[in-house]
Amino acid sequence: MPETNSGNKIYGYDENLWYEMLKSQYWTGDRDIDLIEVLLRKKGRIKRILDLGCGVGRISNRLAVCGFEVTGIDLSKKCIEEAKRDAKKLGVSKNTNYFVGDYKEFCLDPTTPSEFDAAICILAPAWKTVDDMRVFFSSLCKKIRKKGILILVDILKEKFLNSLLSSPSIQNWFRFSEDILSLHTWNYDPVNSRVRTEKVFYRRSGENLRYVVRIKQEYALYSINDYFEALSKSWRIEGIFTFPINMLRLDNFNDPWWLFSTIIVAESNPP
Ligand SMILES: C[S@@+](CC[C@H](N)C(=O)[O-])C[C@H]1O[C@@H](n2cnc3c(N)ncnc32)[C@H](O)[C@@H]1O
Repeated sequence: MPETNSGNKIYGYDENLWYEMLKSQYWTGDRDIDLIEVLLRKKGRIKRILDLGCGVGRISNRLAVCGFEVTGIDLSKKCIEEAKRDAKKLGVSKNTNYFVGDYKEFCLDPTTPSEFDAAICILAPAWKTVDDMRVFFSSLCKKIRKKGILILVDILKEKFLNSLLSSPSIQNWFRFSEDILSLHTWNYDPVNSRVRTEKVFYRRSGENLRYVVRIKQEYALYSINDYFEALSKSWRIEGIFTFPINMLRLDNFNDPWWLFSTIIVAESNPP
């Protein structure tokens, strides 16, 4: 029997499955929050944060617990509902403001709130080309005060290839959390600089696993240079970081996302 679909698609996934996946990974926020907080605090006076593609509030709710005021935007209604529920549980509803929407439209719209001190975009890219990135970062800059900060986490070509050379096993991995097992296969096409992924999902059903869906995708991998170019008109890159090795813990050993992701920190520098 096929699973019921919500009809909405997020990155090609049925929204229900997407929501379940993000929810099951909520705990990884405890692992990631310290580094994000340190990067934000380094800049001094940071209070109002815009979380672009906030998912279920994995980072934004934790930032609110740290005392920041966070506005989170996500395409998924189910994720936003969960982020609000969790904010309530954590007692940070007053510090958080969540809404369903496309963050690119939010940034392009002159009537939406601005004067944030910082924006974060963690594994939530919505651009298809370098030109698209350039337009987006210029519009984002108008929402952030001068010398405000941007923290971007994405899979950059250099880091991905480096990880691939040092540990080819990053091409095949699995994740088993709550009731869902997903098998991930990543192949790199060096000519077109794209990764092709295939993810197969199974759901626990008593003692067995029941097949749910197979999702094939293709992504462009951007280089550090692409980001430099796209950001250069309105942002000044302050640093490029990788996640520290102490994130290697047995409970996320099979999930190499943090191994091939890169953090870009930039300061807003409007023309
Ligand atoms: C991999 S999740 C990461 C969520 C969150 N940043 C975190 O670290 O837990 C990416 C999220 O970005 C959202 N997203 C992608 N493009 C978006 C867009 N244009 N506008 C709003 N949300 C978007 C997706 O719906 C998804 O929930």
